[in-house]
Amino acid sequence: MPGNTSNPEWWRGAAIYQVYLRSFADGNGDGTGDLAGLRSRLPYLAKLGVDAIWLNPWYPSPMADGGYDVADYRGIEPVFGTLAEAEKLIEEAHELGIRTIIDVVPNHASDQHAWFQEALAAGPGSEARERFWFRPGVGDGPPNGWQSIFGGPAWTQVPDGEWYLHLFAPEQPDFNWNNPAVRQEFLDVLRFWFDRGVDGVRIDSAAVLVKDLDSVEESYTDHDGVHDIYREWRRVSDSYGGRILIGEVWLPDQERFANYLRPDELHTAFNFDFLSSAWEPAALRGSIDLTLATHVPIGAPATWVLSNHDVARPVTRYGRAITSWDNADRRDGMPSDLELGRRRARAAALLAMALPGSVYVYQGEELGLWEVEDIPEELIDDPMWERSGHTVRGRDGCRVPLPWSGTEPPFGYSTGEPWLPQPPQWRDLTVEAQEADPGSMLRLYRTALRLRRELLGDGTLTWLPYGDEVIAFRRDSGLVCLVNFGAEPVALPETGSVLLASGPVDGGLLPTDTAVWIMEAR
Ligand code: NOJ
Repeated sequence: MPGNTSNPEWWRGAAIYQVYLRSFADGNGDGTGDLAGLRSRLPYLAKLGVDAIWLNPWYPSPMADGGYDVADYRGIEPVFGTLAEAEKLIEEAHELGIRTIIDVVPNHASDQHAWFQEALAAGPGSEARERFWFRPGVGDGPPNGWQSIFGGPAWTQVPDGEWYLHLFAPEQPDFNWNNPAVRQEFLDVLRFWFDRGVDGVRIDSAAVLVKDLDSVEESYTDHDGVHDIYREWRRVSDSYGGRILIGEVWLPDQERFANYLRPDELHTAFNFDFLSSAWEPAALRGSIDLTLATHVPIGAPATWVLSNHDVARPVTRYGRAITSWDNADRRDGMPSDLELGRRRARAAALLAMALPGSVYVYQGEELGLWEVEDIPEELIDDPMWERSGHTVRGRDGCRVPLPWSGTEPPFGYSTGEPWLPQPPQWRDLTVEAQEADPGSMLRLYRTALRLRRELLGDGTLTWLPYGDEVIAFRRDSGLVCLVNFGAEPVALPETGSVLLASGPVDGGLLPTDTAVWIMEAR
């Protein structure tokens, strides 16, 4: 059933599928996913039952950070395809009831971006340098001691002696958002893509655009001035009849987080608190409560995210001794019981999809892929690896190309060699294999997304008293979600019918690490 593309409030309860284009499907056999591959797989996404796709950056890029180093905000990376193909994708997706959301990267460009090249050539004191953060050093060293989020100093020196700021890799110079030309440029970029039918944008590193360079400590997160930028963006998106703005906002302070969701700013923002939570009932219940307490008073829908292209896959994460997620300690290589992780990831999916608001599914999550932790060092592409002095392997393990069909790599993903190697054991996790197995993760996601569209989405929840070891709540439609975290099975309610369960619920008992959706008898 196609999604509803006429409802202007669609985003409040949407299921949004994140396409990491590089690794989704390769249409031309060069080993890298592309628009042709994605277009050929749109029926898969329609059948899965998602309302929208969010694509990671698709712009021309030297790929120093997987495309988050944008060389031209108005083009398509030739390895991915052409602008005409992007327009076709948007159109074809709409025909299937799927909206398209693209990634906009306003904090930094690629060092190959025309403006940065111009700034390098123009030299110190030029207007071109004012679009970035160029400064003289102090003595032989950088202007201050700020560190890059990827490790190492946040400053790089250019041959004429000045230094430029990059919160991420040196190939990603930060824009100076005090400069009106930068502000104007991004308003134009938004219009460029809205004119091409894009339904919304995901804003990369949304909270770090404004900086205080005089501060000794890194001072870039969540400065008040950032809200003026999003108010301007909102005026543009509203003028297009409600295209949506989604912020990537990692902030521990929920009150500050909520500021981004004021009625004249962003529509939604990613809820990383839930993603980061341990697989423990008190932690998850606390996170849900906190999230709803943050969103409900301001009338913004919550978002529920279990994974993305930056964090370890849930199957691996939930199978570890420490199940919480922390960007600072990525737990690379910590052993994981994948069977346990898979059971929990299935339950987590039913939990996330039952909660009020919108939900994100990162490609491969619906297949139960695990984090690939044995990518040969010489193939590691994530800049975190180099920047950390080969101590952090980084995020490639969740970016391995999808297995579609067949019994050996490249599993129908490509006719060539995938840019990252796929584990041969993924033969059991291909779309083809899972289509045929009613107990598969794919079939669970598909059924859950269908039921969710009919019975869940945005609204309210009522907690049900089931004791400390069980998360239990009822949604407006009468659907009850129970997740058992305790060692002992718990009895299901005596009335009501089981619509879906993440594992066996024989004899009216809900085993450990299992979730169930029940429709109350009315
Ligand atoms: C957040 C993105 O999700 C991540 O992949 C990227 O490396 C940084 N922002 C920098 O753009």
